[in-house]
Amino acid sequence: MDPSRLSHVNLYVGDARQAAYYYCRAFGFRVVAESLPGLQPCTVLLAQGRIRLMLTSTTDASDPVARYVAAHGDGVVDIAIAVPDVARAFRTAVANGADPVMTPSSRTGPGCTVVSAAVRGFGDVIHTFVEAGTPLPHPTLSPIDEPRPEPPDGELLRDIDHFAVCVPAGELDKAVSGYQETFGFEEIFEEFIEVGRQAMSSKVVREPSSGITLTILEPDATHAPGQIDSFLRSHGGAGVQHVAFETGDIREAVRRLGDQGVEFLKTPDAYYDLVEDRVGELGDELGDLHARGILADRDAWGLLLQIFTRSPYARRTLFLELIERRGARTFGSGNIRGLYEAVEREQSRAGGTDAD
Ligand code: FE2
Repeated sequence: MDPSRLSHVNLYVGDARQAAYYYCRAFGFRVVAESLPGLQPCTVLLAQGRIRLMLTSTTDASDPVARYVAAHGDGVVDIAIAVPDVARAFRTAVANGADPVMTPSSRTGPGCTVVSAAVRGFGDVIHTFVEAGTPLPHPTLSPIDEPRPEPPDGELLRDIDHFAVCVPAGELDKAVSGYQETFGFEEIFEEFIEVGRQAMSSKVVREPSSGITLTILEPDATHAPGQIDSFLRSHGGAGVQHVAFETGDIREAVRRLGDQGVEFLKTPDAYYDLVEDRVGELGDELGDLHARGILADRDAWGLLLQIFTRSPYARRTLFLELIERRGARTFGSGNIRGLYEAVEREQSRAGGTDAD
């Protein structure tokens, strides 16, 4: 693929304005553009750091947006990529096996003209190619004069680090080779995780120019059903399980977002008894990481700190992650297991219905 970068992430939701309020108040985003009042679908664009989060909803039950929400609940529908030449990116992806969704077109709205095209990614998730440099990613958006709410003192969330994607058993390798052949992604990490009677496989692919990174997870069919099966059942097939926001100060982010109502998964005290054996000395920070439930891990290049939120959605599908990288370029091996165990505890606490 030509040099590219992540353009934006589009979520189809039940009510874009309510969702915008949540992401602004809880996560510190600000509204930078929205569709004109009364226009359907309703679209709101949020920003923080280099992150562009688009929220789309409709009151028309026959609209594809409503059909997506009925099938999957609120969730990520589009991981959009900014490219220098939309037609060429679309042509190349389709020639390499991508399923076309929207042929290249130029659409002019109140805010700007947008040249875009789209291909299928996995499940009902697509990748829209948007011409690089376009001020707004969708033609129905109009910039608003004064972003609201005002940015807090310093933006805590800087970028999207990666997306975690669940696929049905047996589809992991096909998804990985699809991203390699169609979009030029490279496999950078793989792991098989066994926890109790459950197991899952994970492979991480990254597009070298944009840095767009997907952690793709599949349940192991030879083991008992677990949280990946639970996601696939609740979500109705393959989809984005979590979006990881990169921060330069995870301890401050957890403190502030926690104060603003974000619920983070708990980490058992016993985790901190052994963490320095795995990742090395954490010094004075250990107590604070422990108090906030932040996980620490290490790869060949350095340290990474992570924490996962509870899913704020009724279906318990999509959730968010915060990650601070101190040199680490990939993922350590301890925290996927840590997340798996934390989610299992969370689901047991919720009544055990999802952990079967
Ligand atoms: Fe993650």
